[in-house]
Amino acid sequence: MASPLKSLVNDDSRYQKSFQLFLERSSEHQCMQDFIHNKLPDILASIGNGKSHLNVIGVGSGAGEIDLEILSELHMKHPGVTVDNEVVEPSSQQLHNYRVLVSQKPGLDYIKFTWNKMTASGFEEHWKVKNMTKKADFIHMIQMLYYVKDPGATINFFQSLLDKNGKLLIILVSGESGWGKLWRTYRNQLCNTEISQCVTTGDIKSFLDSRGVSYQSYELLSQMDITECFTEGDEKGELLLDFLTEVLDFSKTASPELKAGVMELLRHPDCSVESNGKVIFNNNLGVIVIDQVS
Ligand SMILES: C[S@@+](CC[C@H](N)C(=O)[O-])C[C@H]1O[C@@H](n2cnc3c(N)ncnc32)[C@H](O)[C@@H]1O
Repeated sequence: MASPLKSLVNDDSRYQKSFQLFLERSSEHQCMQDFIHNKLPDILASIGNGKSHLNVIGVGSGAGEIDLEILSELHMKHPGVTVDNEVVEPSSQQLHNYRVLVSQKPGLDYIKFTWNKMTASGFEEHWKVKNMTKKADFIHMIQMLYYVKDPGATINFFQSLLDKNGKLLIILVSGESGWGKLWRTYRNQLCNTEISQCVTTGDIKSFLDSRGVSYQSYELLSQMDITECFTEGDEKGELLLDFLTEVLDFSKTASPELKAGVMELLRHPDCSVESNGKVIFNNNLGVIVIDQVS
């Protein structure tokens, strides 16, 4: 049954505010950066097949902080190579933030940025209508597959764009994280499957296994301090709760039973550890790397 609760994604301004607070309260970007600097370089070294020009697509890039780190590692592995970077991002605010970041960072002359203010499915349509034959060497979709109607179809489309030796990188919350537990318990109440999927890397692996697609995977340890969620009426706690549940104004609009159940589960040992008066939620991420269709 569709949830009567409104999805947070419908309110971009509140979504971006809560995402920013989530970044401040978690080690989300830190653990991604560790992966990008320690594991990704070997993956990036294997792409391109010796070409002097590489095509990259970032889907759901947000403000671009993580994208620029990836591009910098790519440059170190392929010095002297030029890069065409397609950015696919529906939020005007985030796209603006990304452009500002690029304008402030020196040394990006080897990259040509193309700004696509659109969703992943809008980009797919645009690609098909324009009959594009360009292939991509590296595509990433980091923490965005929750927001497409059909994550499997989205993966299929972007995988079909990969060139020889190309790689598709997906990062989502791990099936073993607190998010996985929360969503397995409350999927029907919290997830409006038209716009937000509550999908984890566990789900994506099952999908890929069923299609016989091979992949590499990694687990990234990450935490999120959700202590403020337990102070009734705390503004930041409410923003974090919206982000956790993907529901707009969760505290004010959820039924008392749902709210009580979610609050109890969030601090349950399946989701969090409590220490020194803090509630630390398991925000572990999963990384999946897929090759070109064989
Ligand atoms: C959780 S943020 C992740 C941003 C960035 N990748 C990061 O990890 O910092 C999700 C991003 O996906 C974008 N997004 C939402 N729906 C989308 C869709 N249907 N297609 C592509 N991107 C989408 C949002 O605007 C947002 O910038």
